[in-house]
Amino acid sequence: MKHFLKETDFSPAQVAELFDLARNLKATRGREIASVLKHQTWALIFSKSSTRTRVSFEVGIHELGGNPLFLSKNDIQLGRGESIEDTARVLSRFVHGLIVRTYDHAEVERLAAAGTVPVINALTDFLHPCQIYTDAFTMAERWAPSGGDLFASLRGRKIAFLGDTACNMANSWVLGANLFGMKISLAGPAGFAPSADLNGLLAREGFAGGYDFTTDPIEAVRDADVVYTDVWVSMGKEEEKRDRLALMAPYSVTGEVFAAAKPDAYFMHCLPAHPGEEVQQEVLDNPRSIIFDQAENRLHVQKAIMTLLARRD
Ligand code: CP
Ligand code: NVA
Repeated sequence: MKHFLKETDFSPAQVAELFDLARNLKATRGREIASVLKHQTWALIFSKSSTRTRVSFEVGIHELGGNPLFLSKNDIQLGRGESIEDTARVLSRFVHGLIVRTYDHAEVERLAAAGTVPVINALTDFLHPCQIYTDAFTMAERWAPSGGDLFASLRGRKIAFLGDTACNMANSWVLGANLFGMKISLAGPAGFAPSADLNGLLAREGFAGGYDFTTDPIEAVRDADVVYTDVWVSMGKEEEKRDRLALMAPYSVTGEVFAAAKPDAYFMHCLPAHPGEEVQQEVLDNPRSIIFDQAENRLHVQKAIMTLLARRD
């Protein structure tokens, strides 16, 4: 049984295959009749809001010939205390895959351990791997156009991540950068350095110390090929909003900060954005902002992820 709970659940060779497949799926969208998920139903269990993830998965399952089933946590008995393990066992009798967005990362691991169908992490407080694969594919499309080697084009590139450097997106980008052979510099408030949980995971994967952390945003973006940020108040952190906005104000991606990266650097953001907080509108509107390519590519990359998981099932 193969799951996709964290970036390193696929090997570099498998990620290279996945990116090539995503490029092909993107190029042939609407022209090919896919049947990889024919007669299958994949359930989405979501405990948090979503625009991109929910829609791209529902459309993607449909385009692969399957049937998406959206289950808000509070609409099923899980929201009333039925155990994660029993939920996994029961749903495994009905559906062919589970796509899960929740708070505690341990919940996706427990679902995967108890069920008998593939589980995809659609965001936890700890990691957001579907987004990171999509982001890397989106960069690679720029760096390896017209049939070039997408995966190899990432090697040696530098990403600077500014703002909430302890959030799921930052964690996932640290893990992803190491898997893709990229360098990553994080710039955020002193108390937001990578957590013991992330450092432990990096050590287990053989990537110990595979990042730079600084409190100076200009130092982080120097020589960067990509400047990346995410919201300062992730879902579940709303009570900390006032403190976070004050602490993170020096890390806003302004035109000046973006200009301190390489002259051909791209700006990226997983969205939703809060213009005037983690990024200024002029940067979102910059011709080198590729945020909507990122959003679109969720569809193509996730179709590739589901195809590989279904094939390996
Ligand atoms: N980027 C992302 O995961 O967006 P949603 O929260 O809208 O799914
Ligand atoms: N860090 C954000 C990402 C949203 C896609 C959150 O968890 O709310």
